[in-house]
Amino acid sequence: MLTRFTKIATVRRAPQLLQTARFASGGSRTAFTNARDIWGGSQFDITTPAEAQALKELVSTQQATQAAFLKKFPQSAVEVQRINAVHAQALADQNPPLRVAVTGASGQIGYALIYRIASGAVFGPKTPVILQLLELPQAMNSLKGVEMELRDCAFPNLVDVVLTDKPEVAFEGVDYALLVGAQPRTKGMERGDLLLKNAEIFSAQGKALNTAAKGRDTHVLVVGNPANTNALIASRNAPKIPAHNFSAMTRLDHNRGLGQLAEKLNCGVTDIHNFMIWGNHSATQFPDISHASLHGKPLSSLLDNDWVVKTFIPAVQQRGAAIIAARGASSAASAGSSLIDATRDTHFGTFGEVTSAAVCSNGEYGVEAGLFFSYPVIYANKSWSVVTGLPQSEFAQQMMKATEAELKSERDAVAKLLPK
Ligand SMILES: NC(=O)c1ccc[n+]([C@@H]2O[C@H](COP(=O)([O-])OP(=O)(O)OC[C@H]3O[C@@H](n4cnc5c(N)ncnc54)[C@H](O)[C@@H]3O)[C@@H](O)[C@H]2O)c1
Repeated sequence: MLTRFTKIATVRRAPQLLQTARFASGGSRTAFTNARDIWGGSQFDITTPAEAQALKELVSTQQATQAAFLKKFPQSAVEVQRINAVHAQALADQNPPLRVAVTGASGQIGYALIYRIASGAVFGPKTPVILQLLELPQAMNSLKGVEMELRDCAFPNLVDVVLTDKPEVAFEGVDYALLVGAQPRTKGMERGDLLLKNAEIFSAQGKALNTAAKGRDTHVLVVGNPANTNALIASRNAPKIPAHNFSAMTRLDHNRGLGQLAEKLNCGVTDIHNFMIWGNHSATQFPDISHASLHGKPLSSLLDNDWVVKTFIPAVQQRGAAIIAARGASSAASAGSSLIDATRDTHFGTFGEVTSAAVCSNGEYGVEAGLFFSYPVIYANKSWSVVTGLPQSEFAQQMMKATEAELKSERDAVAKLLPK
């Protein structure tokens, strides 16, 4: 099943034409809607003279409406000119649209995420987006509801929406792929079975990314659990996309840690620097305050070590379970929000600030190369670098080894789905 606003062939060119129409007609929302309707019908090829004629008519209708308005309210002429100039400038400043795929788009996290992407919260107000949403066949109806609400929001930056249950359609030409959808653990399911089931999903999606996505410029952020190992599988099945462009999300764990530290220290979350998560997005992760500071003071001098080891670290590790116990459902708003943070940082950079992401290890800190391991990272120019050279205590080294061992055992369990 496949539904979308416009035929895929026209989608690529539509944004530029949409902008042309908006520009030519003064950029009003009516022009936007009319132009979209003309292309949405796609009764003609958008590069033909017929299309040019349709645009011309659209523009002249807009101009006639504006002229009629000015005849009635001549005192508004200066204001109308000013608005037209602002629109023209805004359009001149716009970036080309980005194609963003979201899998599991009608799930809990999808619902917390998609509207914020469309609103400009990730790529900013100057970058229009085309959302390419993937769901299972049985969830397409619910996805249709998500699309209806997207339309109802009338987001100016949302150029188009593609709904599909086929990964290669969802990933066509994408700049960003946010892999959220995954098989949940059901009653009686062993951890090994869950790993294998998800390994199959992420292996298929990796292959689809390899054939359909933009390629070297595509960035893939994995949220679906077990996120680190799913990222490894997707990456290994998508050799055309550099492994460097894949990551698994530990930003939620990072944000959880910051939230708890800020509460304890009675400060703002942005006052704390150099906090980091190491390892797996699981209960073996190592939330590490040993390099963190508040207004230049080491956190280790402000916090009781017993509280850090016995309360803080387990609380961050077990936060997901605590949310389920309290809410009766797993974290969704915070996961969606953290994915927004992680994607925005990938796109714009962190300006020197340290954050956490599970990236393909090059052996930093003695971790086996090739594992997707959460490190302290800095983003710049759509690329990350691991912060190296941090001294590690014996306790830290033990924590690192434990989480690395878990990642190795996950990798070994899915070895047959990992092309060499
Ligand atoms: N990395 C993190 O920090 C983090 C945090 C929270 C949740 N998660 C994980 O994110 C995933 C999604 O969580 P959720 O709460 O949105 O779950 P959910 O069950 O509400 O939604 C998942 C959606 O994915 C869809 N789906 C399943 N398999 C799919 C496939 N092969 N292709 C496309 N869609 C598919 C389902 O139909 C469903 O709509 C889970 O695996 C969860 O454990 C990760």
